[in-house]
Amino acid sequence: MLIKKAPDIAASAITPKPWYLHRREFLQSTGLVAAAAVAGVLDTDDAAATPVGEPLTITKKLVTTTDALTPRQAITTYCNFYEYGADKSDPARNAAAFKPRPWSVSVEGHCAKPGVYTLEDVLKPHALEERVYRLRCVEGWSMVIPWVGFPLGDLLARFQPNGNATFVEFTTVERPREMAGQRQRFPTLLPWPYKEGLRMDEAMHPLTIIAVGLYGETLLNQNGAPLRLVVPWKYGFKSIKSIVRIRFVDKQPLNTWQEQVPNWYGFYANVNPAVDQVEWSQATERRIGEFLRRKTLMFNGYGDQVASMYAGMNLRRNY
Ligand code: MTE
Repeated sequence: MLIKKAPDIAASAITPKPWYLHRREFLQSTGLVAAAAVAGVLDTDDAAATPVGEPLTITKKLVTTTDALTPRQAITTYCNFYEYGADKSDPARNAAAFKPRPWSVSVEGHCAKPGVYTLEDVLKPHALEERVYRLRCVEGWSMVIPWVGFPLGDLLARFQPNGNATFVEFTTVERPREMAGQRQRFPTLLPWPYKEGLRMDEAMHPLTIIAVGLYGETLLNQNGAPLRLVVPWKYGFKSIKSIVRIRFVDKQPLNTWQEQVPNWYGFYANVNPAVDQVEWSQATERRIGEFLRRKTLMFNGYGDQVASMYAGMNLRRNY
């Protein structure tokens, strides 16, 4: 696909590489090519080479599906993290140089307790839980992941957001020296830093978590170390990784994908099998490690818990 680079072309009119890469992933995920590629990520030689995280102490467990867990090897080697490159295998290959400690998170905007908090400050009061959630990517694949984390709402409440805080914006770290993908900018890759946003009620919803680990260990760099969002009823791209800034705002923020390709990626990005991507259907998905496609569930199967937040909204328009 052609990438127009003339300086007088509006960013929104350019076909960015990530766009056609997503398209390519979708096309692959419909056929045998994908089965072979995914078999590749489960290769046992790679398993031996995958680094491990630090063990975490878990106090509670919430399992939201009876579906089998996706192997750790696949979760840690088949990743979307464009800061390390656009191919699924890039993050596992390129993330070793990244240093997730020391780390701090800047809390800004409409709240009583803004400030720069160290990772230790952020994590200390929170007991860690295992949350087994489905993750559904907009490209048409899915996984079942035993995340370790705690409710985002518990963290946000500590900063005492005020009545003007109607949305929360999250920003990923920007470190081009350690993140090879950040040395390429839009339209080759994305504009950095990567940003995401949630409406306040979505952020405070008990299913929304800050994840600090998976499979009982701290997150590897390629999965968003040291802390990331997981919002199980939304397409995977809402689950922003390696967060350094949380900002309480009074207007709906633009997320990175929506900014780049607005007709493809809405703000809400709730998993909705009835609304097609511009170029492909979202009705089915292929679970990583499986061959046949399965039906995608509305809100990724979490509708009984989250649908009421969208009552009265047009979910075709607010995709
Ligand atoms: N966060 C950042 N900072 N950069 C990214 O490229 N990709 C998103 C999301 N969070 C992304 C990100 C997408 S498209 C998906 S599907 C999920 O991360 C994938 O998370 P995983 O690789 O841990 O499975």
